[in-house]
Amino acid sequence: MKQEILFKLGVGHPWADSVQYYPVIHSTNDEAKILAEANAPQGTVLIADKQLGGRGRMGNSFFSPEDAGIYMSVILRPSCHVTELMHLTCAVAVAMCDAMEAATGYRPSVKWINDLVARGKKLGGILTELSTSPSGQIRYAVVGIGINCNQTEADFPDELRPIATSLQMITGKPVDRSLLAAKMIQFLENLSQNLLAEKSAILDVYRHDCITIGQDVRVIQQSRERFGKAIDLLDDGSLQVRFLDGSVEAVQSGLVHVRTLQGYC
Ligand code: BTN
Repeated sequence: MKQEILFKLGVGHPWADSVQYYPVIHSTNDEAKILAEANAPQGTVLIADKQLGGRGRMGNSFFSPEDAGIYMSVILRPSCHVTELMHLTCAVAVAMCDAMEAATGYRPSVKWINDLVARGKKLGGILTELSTSPSGQIRYAVVGIGINCNQTEADFPDELRPIATSLQMITGKPVDRSLLAAKMIQFLENLSQNLLAEKSAILDVYRHDCITIGQDVRVIQQSRERFGKAIDLLDDGSLQVRFLDGSVEAVQSGLVHVRTLQGYC
């Protein structure tokens, strides 16, 4: 797998020497954080064929069966304050839509903030973890991406079957996982160069890819549940919601659950 990825990445790619491959791992994000603490450089890429403890946001697990998906984490070291990086998950989502489109011809959508979706089901997700100095400067960011590639419906456990899908199920064709992994690395490297300078353009693409904007949503904050409509994405990645009482609020990811009113998406 590693040699195929490097071949498809092309000669002289700046991150080629930092690609690390694991047949099986607990979680590429956990391992990436260990490497980042040990000063691994920006562009260190970890790819596994299987995860035993793949993690998602909000304490969820990420189903990571052998050879069926892509489980990747990348270490980034942007030199900025955490407040300038609130759009990172959105930017990675755009890069992953670009990578899937380049590798398969199919462009998925995004469910705010970090879910990659297709036809109302989850194709994958992004888990961003930041380490900052006491003053809030970024020490490193670990960006973890999981994409369901070649699963069939029967491969998903009962509880995921109604809400999960794979690129193969969507396109009807098996996915060349090493090609997709190479495209993901290429678009992430490109993103690492444009992350701050191109923020506004990146967020415009996100607004276009994001199916949550314009939908009726249920916002669950601690034990409080409110209904409204998602009206926009703000520059810090928060979702602007107009609630039924007319008030408009920016909803931050991590603090609340946002559910659309039509099932998973
Ligand atoms: C989510 O669905 O909330 C995010 C899922 C992120 C899964 C990826 S797989 C590679 C990396 N390692 C992990 O443990 N999680 C991320």
